[in-house]
Amino acid sequence: MQNYLRLFAQNREWANAMRAADAGFFERRSVTQEPHYLFIGCCDSRVPAELLTGAHPGEIFVHRNIANQADPTDMNMLSALEYAVEVLDVKHVLVCGHYQCGGVRAAMEPQGHRLVDHWLQVVRDLQMRHEAELNALADDGARFNRLVELNVLEQVFQLSRTPIVRHAWKKGKRPILHGLVYDVHDGLLKELVSGVDGEEHARELRAAVSGDFVHVPPSLHLAP
Ligand code: CO
Repeated sequence: MQNYLRLFAQNREWANAMRAADAGFFERRSVTQEPHYLFIGCCDSRVPAELLTGAHPGEIFVHRNIANQADPTDMNMLSALEYAVEVLDVKHVLVCGHYQCGGVRAAMEPQGHRLVDHWLQVVRDLQMRHEAELNALADDGARFNRLVELNVLEQVFQLSRTPIVRHAWKKGKRPILHGLVYDVHDGLLKELVSGVDGEEHARELRAAVSGDFVHVPPSLHLAP
């Protein structure tokens, strides 16, 4: 209980500090949110979207699930995506994976995790599709890291296929899709793919992720 109660004490401290820095902050935020970003990340407690980007409430719309999936049959993800793109009109959609991801690790192991095995089937399939690239790596740690990265690229590709994103692209150059990986060892974000803002880039990404070896073409590393 001690730990639980600590959350409330810290919450009061935080709210007081926010008010001290900007007296009208909560009043303004209570009226509306105007986030520029949708962040699709892993549930892992080490990867808090707002903390690691220094964002305040109202700046990032967040959807998290195990192993940062953008599964096109997941109504939860699609609902968040639709609201972010069509109502909030976010400029950027970020898929953020992270090294040492327990979800990706579980997908590399024999099944036995019950329900989550179903959820991780996509990552398991991804591993099979990229067996040649993964097997060419020196050790298990390198394969683990690479599967984390491949999973991010795959989820960006999955997003680019959704009718929500395609419909938005027809109307303009947003949202721009990005694939990032967060390094739990040093707290830094790394860009894996960036600037995916239309059919042409979606096709390039498709070609990249469907081969045995993934080489993201330089054209996909555009300024956001
Ligand atoms: Co994870």
